[in-house]
Amino acid sequence: MKIDIITIFPQQIEQYTEFGIFRIAKEKKAVDINVHDLRKWTDDNHKTIDDRPFGGGAGMVMKVEPVYKAINELKKKGSIVIATTPQGKPLKQKMLRDLSKEVDCHYIFLCGHYEGFDQRIIDNLVDIEISIGDYVLSGGELPVLTIIDGILRLLPNVLGNEQSSINESFTENTLEYPQYTRPEEFMGWKVPPVLLKGNHSQIALWRDQKAKEITLKKRPDIVKS
Ligand SMILES: C[S@@+](CC[C@H](N)C(=O)[O-])C[C@H]1O[C@@H](n2cnc3c(N)ncnc32)[C@H](O)[C@@H]1O
Repeated sequence: MKIDIITIFPQQIEQYTEFGIFRIAKEKKAVDINVHDLRKWTDDNHKTIDDRPFGGGAGMVMKVEPVYKAINELKKKGSIVIATTPQGKPLKQKMLRDLSKEVDCHYIFLCGHYEGFDQRIIDNLVDIEISIGDYVLSGGELPVLTIIDGILRLLPNVLGNEQSSINESFTENTLEYPQYTRPEEFMGWKVPPVLLKGNHSQIALWRDQKAKEITLKKRPDIVKS
């Protein structure tokens, strides 16, 4: 998978991608990530990437020309341009699974700022608009990193144990069952005895039941009707 990220804070993204799943995915050559400073595609002395909104109002809007030039230079046949906006399609695990299936895909991610993008960017240059939730952040860097993190951990051979992404929350419209590790008892808090006996079918049954209980209690909205 090839990923280009267009941002006004390239260092913020570059630093983050040095750690964790980003580093692992890069080392395993599952992904090639390139970060670009949007200001590279400006041609005035101030490297202007924003301007006042037509019609008035608060804040600044991201200009169309630099984004157009950036995408024009980076886009190849089949590339998919993704913009992060609070108005986009809500990010769900299923969307991450779909995006991660395109292992040979080229994604170009756009990080917005200020009041967001000139609408002509969304209407003419963007294939998918994604929101990471019903709240507003100051910039698209965290949303972009969130989406890419979610994609990378689903790529084949990136996580050590493929099973971890099969059993986890949101895969089957349930949350995951509770997990415990050593010690068996701490401050009088005990691990459920069924997990200590090594009976795998009983453990599987217990986990299934707990996952259902927890989902009904915490997230009844995701249970299939
Ligand atoms: C302050 S926000 C713009 C909000 C916009 N004026 C609105 O009311 O919809 C600036 C940028 O942060 C990013 N952003 C903020 N919240 C987001 C969210 N929930 N999901 C995805 N991107 C978000 C987007 O790239 C957006 O263009």
